[in-house]
Amino acid sequence: MTKPKLLITRKLRPDVEARAARDYDVTFNPEDRLFTRDELIAACRTVDAVLPCHSELFSADVIAEIGAGLKIIANHSVGTDHVDLTAAKAAGIVVTNTPDVLSDATAEIAMLCMLGAARRGAEGDAMVRSGQWNFWSPAFMVGRQVTSKRFGVLGMGRVGQVTAERARGFGMEIHYHNRRRLPEHLEKGAIYHDSLEGLLACSDVLSLHCPSTAENAGIINAKTLALLPDRAILVNTARGALVDETALIDALTSGKLFAAGLDVFQTEPGGNPKLAALQNIFMLPHIGSATEETRDAMGYRALDNLDAYFKGEEPHDRVA
Ligand code: DGY
Repeated sequence: MTKPKLLITRKLRPDVEARAARDYDVTFNPEDRLFTRDELIAACRTVDAVLPCHSELFSADVIAEIGAGLKIIANHSVGTDHVDLTAAKAAGIVVTNTPDVLSDATAEIAMLCMLGAARRGAEGDAMVRSGQWNFWSPAFMVGRQVTSKRFGVLGMGRVGQVTAERARGFGMEIHYHNRRRLPEHLEKGAIYHDSLEGLLACSDVLSLHCPSTAENAGIINAKTLALLPDRAILVNTARGALVDETALIDALTSGKLFAAGLDVFQTEPGGNPKLAALQNIFMLPHIGSATEETRDAMGYRALDNLDAYFKGEEPHDRVA
């Protein structure tokens, strides 16, 4: 039987690539080079399926130019904001993602961002690393303690729930806002707010875990940042588009926010040089799910979705 033709846009883990090569006629990208828009379109025109990451943009015009041959976009990501789901659906292209498997890894990074921001991790590391650590006193590099503070979760989906569980380990009181209130066994004592405003007022640390959609672009902006308690900490491991970075810079500069811990930015790769110029910010290069275990699991989950599709079954993680 001829194997379906599959394009894998980025370098994946060796065992994931080996399984893909066993079951599909795969075009790999061994140099892990980012495709240009035209290269992506041309490559997708020659295959039945594509396994992309969030780094490949499938906008409505890209989908239209790819044309009729492509049957499925099996994402190697839980986020699907890089794919125009409406356009894909209209073009008859199935779209899947990789939920669940990256919740632990992302929750770990959220804790790292929270602690890095609260305890001035970037400043401390830079000082020791550069050989400029020449002073110590009880008044030196004093940060904010998170133990027993209020941890606000915006978006209590899978990642939000695991992150809340980790924050409970620091004795933090969990607050959340979500479209729907969770059942008691998932809520585990977390305090539900039926409005974003209600959540913001109670968040000593606010951690973002909602998907990036047209409706919530810039949901964290000058107006919403003003509703946080003074000297709060913002953590974003979801998507850069959720935050108005100019308003964030103002809040970090004025002292309204004590600090921020960010793994995601409006411009990726690269980040924002104006954010990078601030001391009270701890930053990482979008590595929330970048562990060996999670990368393996994401790759296998994307392949499971492809396998189901080509067996004529409904893929488990179909989003369009
Ligand atoms: C995701 O899965 O959405 C992560 O951000 C990595 O792409």
